Amino acid sequence: MNIYAVILAAGKGTRMKSDKPKVLHEVLYKPMVQHVVDELKKVGVSKTIVVVGHGADEVKEALAGQNVEFALQAQQLGTGHAVLQAKSLLEGKEGLTLVLNGDAPLIQASTLQALIKTHLDNGHSATMMTCVLPETTPFGRIIRDENGQVVCITEYKDATEEERKILEMNAGEYCFDNKYLFDGLKQLTPNNAQNEYYITDLAKVMGGMGLKVGTHIIDNFNEVGGINDRVSLAEANEILRDRINREHLLNGVTMIDPKTTYIGRDVVIGQDTIIEPGCILKGNTVIGNHCHIGPYCEFTNVEVKDNVEIKFSVISDSIVESGTDIGPYARLRTNCHIKENVHIGNFVEMKKTTFGKGAKAAHLSYIGDAVVGERVNIGCGTITCNYDGANKFQTIIEDDAFVGCNTNLVAPVTVGKGAFVAAGSTIIDEVEEDAFAVARGRQYNKKGYARVLEAKRLAIKAKKNK
Ligand code: UD1
Ligand code: CA
Repeated sequence: MNIYAVILAAGKGTRMKSDKPKVLHEVLYKPMVQHVVDELKKVGVSKTIVVVGHGADEVKEALAGQNVEFALQAQQLGTGHAVLQAKSLLEGKEGLTLVLNGDAPLIQASTLQALIKTHLDNGHSATMMTCVLPETTPFGRIIRDENGQVVCITEYKDATEEERKILEMNAGEYCFDNKYLFDGLKQLTPNNAQNEYYITDLAKVMGGMGLKVGTHIIDNFNEVGGINDRVSLAEANEILRDRINREHLLNGVTMIDPKTTYIGRDVVIGQDTIIEPGCILKGNTVIGNHCHIGPYCEFTNVEVKDNVEIKFSVISDSIVESGTDIGPYARLRTNCHIKENVHIGNFVEMKKTTFGKGAKAAHLSYIGDAVVGERVNIGCGTITCNYDGANKFQTIIEDDAFVGCNTNLVAPVTVGKGAFVAAGSTIIDEVEEDAFAVARGRQYNKKGYARVLEAKRLAIKAKKNK
C-alpha cells in the first residue's frame, strides 16, 4: 500500500509575531516542520509533499536534502486550497494520503500508524483525527448526527453558541483515500467567516459524495494542538522535553533534574548514564553507557562512547572515545576526535583535532588543526598558531612527546616522537624524534641590580613629590 503525505506549511503564522515562517520555529532545537517530516519517515511514507507559501524559500532551504517535494501555494486561501496545490504530484495515484498540519510538531509516528489502521479497518474514504477535551477551545469542532456519524467539522469562528459547547475537537491530521481526495477538494467553497477553502469541509463534501467518512479519536491533544503563538511554542517545548526525558528515564538513564535537561528528539543515551542538571543535548548526539554528563553541557552532534565524564563543556560535531574525561569549561568543535582515556581540563579549546589515546591537555590551551599522538602531554597555555590571517596550517605532535607550558607551535610544524619542548618556547621548525627543543631568550641575572633599580625608582618618586 502506497502512503503519501502532504504537510501544510504555507501559512504566515501571524500570531507568532515573527519575521520567520511559523513552521521554522524550533521545538527542542528542531524546526516544527522537520519534526513532522521525521515522523513521516518512521511511518514509511513513499512521497512527502510540503506545501509552502509564506517564506517558501526559507522553508525549502531548511528542508533541503530531506527527500521531500514542494508545492507552492502562492496565496494562502485556506487549508483545503493548500492541499489542492499538491494535485499535480498526487492526483490519480493509488494509495492513502495523510494530510498533516505543519504547526503540530509533537505528532508521533505511532499515532499516525494508528490513524491509518482505523482508516483501513473501517473501510473509510476519509478519516479525521479528533480528540475530546475537558473544556471548550477555539479549535474546529466535530458535529455528529444522532447515530454518531460525522456530519461536518465547524470552525470555532463559524460555530453557533450551541456548537461551541461541543468538546470533540479536530486535530488537524487526516487520512484520505487518494482516489477521492482531489474530487472532494474541487468541490470546496469559501463560504465561511474567513473566506477560506477549509480542508475540514471535506467531512461534509465527501459524505455528500456517498463516501464513508469517519474519525480516529486520540486521548492526548498535547500531541496535535497546533502551535499558533509563542505561548504554545514554549508549552510544546516543555511537553516534548518531558516526553523525551521520560523515555530516557525508563530506558535506564539517570537524570538529576529532568526539568532542566533538554534532550533533542533524535538523541540516543545508553544505560546507566547520569545526566546532571542544565544539559542541552541536541542534533544527532549519541551517548554511550556509564557516562557522567554535566552539569551544564551543550552537545550538538556529538558521539560519546562509554565511561566518559564531561562537565561544564560545549562540544559540537565531534567524537569522544571511552574512558575520557573532559572539563570543566572545555570547548571542542568541528570534527575533533578525542581518543580513549584522554584528559582535557579547564579552559581548553580544540578544533579539527585528533587527540591520541592517553594524551593530556589539562589547562588553558588552544589546539586547532592538529594531530596529537598517544600519551602526549600538552602543558598549560600551549597554543597552536594555526592561522596566518589567510590560511590554516597543521600541527603534528607525535606519540609520547612532551610540550612544556606556554609553548607556541607555529604551524605548519611537527614535534617528533618522544621529543621534549621546553616551557615558553615558540617553535617554528620541526623538532626531531627524541630531541629537546628550547626556543626562547636565554636568562641572565645581573647581580644586585634589583636594589639599584629600587633606588632609582625612589629617587624619581621623591623628585615628583617635592
Ligand atoms: C486548523 C483546522 C481546525 C483544527 C486546527 C488544529 C482548518 C480550516 N481548521 O485550524 O479545525 O482544529 O487546525 O490545530 O483547517 N496553512 C496553509 N495554507 C493556508 C492556511 C493554512 O498551508 O492557506 C497551513 C498553516 O501553515 C498551518 C496549517 O495549515 O501549518 C493549519 O493552519 P492554521 O491557520 O493554523 O489552522 P487553524 O486555525 O489552527
Ligand atoms: Ca493552527
